[in-house]
Amino acid sequence: MRPAGEPREKIMADLEAALAIDYGFSDGRVLSSMCTKPLDLAKEAHAMFIESNLGNAGLYPGTLSLEKQVIDELSGLLGGSGKIAGGIVSGGTEANITALWIARNVTHRKKVVFPKSVHFSFHKACDILGMVPVVVDLNEDYTVDIDLAARMMDKDVAAVVGIAGTTELGVVDDIGALAGIVPEGVFLHVDAAFGGFVLPFLRELGHKIPNFDFSVGGVTSISADPHKMGMSTVPSGALLVRDREWFRTIHKDAPYLDTLGQLSALSGTRCSAAVAATYATMRSLGREGYTRIVSDCMDVTAHALARARKMGLEPVIEPVMNILCLRVADPKGMQEALDRRGWKVSVARNPPSLRLVVMPHVTKQMVDSMFADMEEILGGA
Ligand SMILES: Cc1ncc(COP(=O)(O)O)c(C=O)c1O
Repeated sequence: MRPAGEPREKIMADLEAALAIDYGFSDGRVLSSMCTKPLDLAKEAHAMFIESNLGNAGLYPGTLSLEKQVIDELSGLLGGSGKIAGGIVSGGTEANITALWIARNVTHRKKVVFPKSVHFSFHKACDILGMVPVVVDLNEDYTVDIDLAARMMDKDVAAVVGIAGTTELGVVDDIGALAGIVPEGVFLHVDAAFGGFVLPFLRELGHKIPNFDFSVGGVTSISADPHKMGMSTVPSGALLVRDREWFRTIHKDAPYLDTLGQLSALSGTRCSAAVAATYATMRSLGREGYTRIVSDCMDVTAHALARARKMGLEPVIEPVMNILCLRVADPKGMQEALDRRGWKVSVARNPPSLRLVVMPHVTKQMVDSMFADMEEILGGA
């Protein structure tokens, strides 16, 4: 650290220089991120609550009440009743780790049965929690094979995980069927980190979306991230659980803190500005606003698919959500070639394909311009 402080202008100039080399969602080049540009109102609310820390909730009863309202709203959106408890955490990873932490402590068991398509946060969770991953293969449609999962059930299983919107392909496991094979007392956690703010609105748009949430009796917990399709600021994930009492099993006394009324969480001090941002976003958009956003994303996804087909490229699956994976000869090579032209796209591993995440900041013009570059690359330009 320098011995004396420096002038504001110099610091700001350096910050601006750093920001200039970051990719921003407004730059029109990012098709790889599962986050997007938050609403302006979300940014405003975030700045207003920048001091807030629900790790010491006694000092922030106002923020705490916002968190409760967000959880109640989200529970209503995800088929829950007033009994659902939960909290805003840093994202899908923390929500998934916490869900398995609770499952381990309630059941005193160690095995977690999950599909091959899970987000890597479940492998992190098993590592941290000393739990044993039992990986289940997928059907041809890339959903979890229920018969195989059923064969994995034994007295050591603490939890089964289903995914409502896989990271790579955006497919939805048959959560109802999973609930049918999960024995009494075993947790069924649904990772809807991405799908939680998409599937309810696809349903409003008339898409056939099987029940994936608390409307399925056996579902014990759900992750859904406001900082993905929820249009809120980072860091904002949500964990909802069916029984508030389960949080007691991960509770640790914190005598020096004023934590009255606070749910136990993995983090101590935590950024709670995103709670206010999420509250503001959900109120400002309502079901109608989110439905419009999801509809626009699906429209751009369909546009991208039509454009790809014109070039002779086929999708791995017809997109269920706003994620499009294309079969190309060398996905990694194509990703690198597009990267050299300033495009940020990603690749999926199963099966190897070029992956486009069509978030609200992705426009048809962007898609057209990206495919024009891709056409040139494929043509050897
Ligand atoms: C399905 C799913 N679960 C969990 C996560 C992890 O979320 P985060 O990066 O917010 O921790 C992701 C991230 O992409 C995801 O797609």
